Amino acid sequence: MTSDNEASTVRPTPAVIAIDGTSASGKSTNARTVARELGFAYVDTGAMYRTLAWYCLKKGVDIHDMKAVTSACRRWKTRLANVDGQVRLLVDGYYPEREIRTDEVSAAVPHVAAAPKVRDWMRDQQRDCVRFGDLVMEGRDIGSNVFPETEFKFYLDASLSERSRRRAADGITEDLAKRDKRDSERAAAPLMVPLGAMVVDTSNHTPAESSELILAEVRRRLHLPPAPGPEAAA
Ligand code: C5P
Repeated sequence: MTSDNEASTVRPTPAVIAIDGTSASGKSTNARTVARELGFAYVDTGAMYRTLAWYCLKKGVDIHDMKAVTSACRRWKTRLANVDGQVRLLVDGYYPEREIRTDEVSAAVPHVAAAPKVRDWMRDQQRDCVRFGDLVMEGRDIGSNVFPETEFKFYLDASLSERSRRRAADGITEDLAKRDKRDSERAAAPLMVPLGAMVVDTSNHTPAESSELILAEVRRRLHLPPAPGPEAAA
């Protein structure tokens, strides 16, 4: 038997916090922080698309040939695993953590991500992640296409100069505008602000400030108490 209080806090299905946005807008940092603070599993869907791009390059699949990419995506042997709170897509039992962050993979990934059947496959896998419980999922189409029904939608953006500065600070020089353009202009599930999303411009926020904005909104909607202030720790 549950008390009224317990009954009101029980959620029948896992909650999904969708964090979409442009490249280098702070999605990963914020999504990781929010997931850690709430004890939710973290899913980086960009890593899933990067893994397919890496796999195609490794196997000599022409990334400009959608049929070939789709067929590779149907044939590869993958498995989802929750490793220390992060859901990973393993290929042949392996997670290519560093290999998927190369310039070559960054340039290839929007091409494989534009294939409609690849996106269908990815969406099925991403939706299947709820078997790991409550989720924070970052990407480009999570609030618009993968979990359009979730009530927790956030869209992160920042000025191009600030985003380029952040990438450069990580030692990466990439034409971010070009990748965003490709992602926004593709026909299948393009990058967009999902309906009902809270838009957060991170240009002038520290990562801690933007995660706090997201967390405060999620806590309010989940009827969770606000985070204790610094005075609580004193
Ligand atoms: O987030 P990240 O920069 O790692 O994403 C790499 C690429 O993967 C994006 O530029 C986009 O082409 C693709 N992607 C996507 N849909 C998602 C996540 C990533 O198309 N949900």
